[in-house]
Amino acid sequence: MCASPPSPDMAESSSELLARIRVHGAVPRHIAIIMDGNGRWARERHMPRAFGHRSGMKAVREVVEGALEAGVEWLSLFAFSQENWQRPETEVSALMSLLEEYIAREAAELAQQGVRVYVHGDLSRLTPAAANAVRRVMEQTVTGNRLGLNLFISYGGRAELVRATRQLAADVAAGRLTADAITEDEISARLYTAGCPDPDLLIRTSGEQRLSNFLLWQVAYAELFISSLYWPDFDRHALYGAISDFQRRDRRFGRVST
Ligand code: FPP
Repeated sequence: MCASPPSPDMAESSSELLARIRVHGAVPRHIAIIMDGNGRWARERHMPRAFGHRSGMKAVREVVEGALEAGVEWLSLFAFSQENWQRPETEVSALMSLLEEYIAREAAELAQQGVRVYVHGDLSRLTPAAANAVRRVMEQTVTGNRLGLNLFISYGGRAELVRATRQLAADVAAGRLTADAITEDEISARLYTAGCPDPDLLIRTSGEQRLSNFLLWQVAYAELFISSLYWPDFDRHALYGAISDFQRRDRRFGRVST
């Protein structure tokens, strides 16, 4: 696990960092991000938490553009956990409204940029308006082939594994699969992320060093990068810093170094 800046990368401009990342070549195919610290960011400014989430929405835009420029293929963002339903009603409805606003504002541009949006989680709990917005953005961006953007909403990693296990059990009960034929690939194929490569890099902002039930199966071999920045301050420069740090890692996947 790596502590975040100060690092030499931070002295470089975003375009210098991007140029260096591109020359180096090994850009992570899939980056997952636990966007954390909106509340603390707002509190430091004596503002309500919803103001932090609104500023966090701008950071989402910034990071999507940064990922496109760097040539990342998949970006997975943890936008709302199952546990987040237990937050005060006002905060939950502010987050749902922001999701609708984000989709209303960005869907056309995302489609034009070649981004394909997928929304994963227990979507049955969304308000009808939020559920409609989610359906709309997935339809509107269906032809995107530059970047897959996974938004995890009402999501929990353990619940995802329970869901996959139930599907496996149903397949075995129906005779479509034998117990002996259950492999890692069969499990992966029943996760929301079926078809995506596993994340190479998992970023968490705000200095916290936890997985918080995000993509538990998929991050088995991800490199971790903890940024001390609060999410609203995380921009493309910070993203490039994390990618540059990733490029210096020696990924062994349990084997010895080459
Ligand atoms: C964690 O910060 C952040 C969230 C629970 C919500 C993330 C939402 C956004 C970034 C904005 C909307 C996103 C999209 C995709 C439209 P926290 O509230 O837990 O912060 P704290 O730990 O400082 O209290």
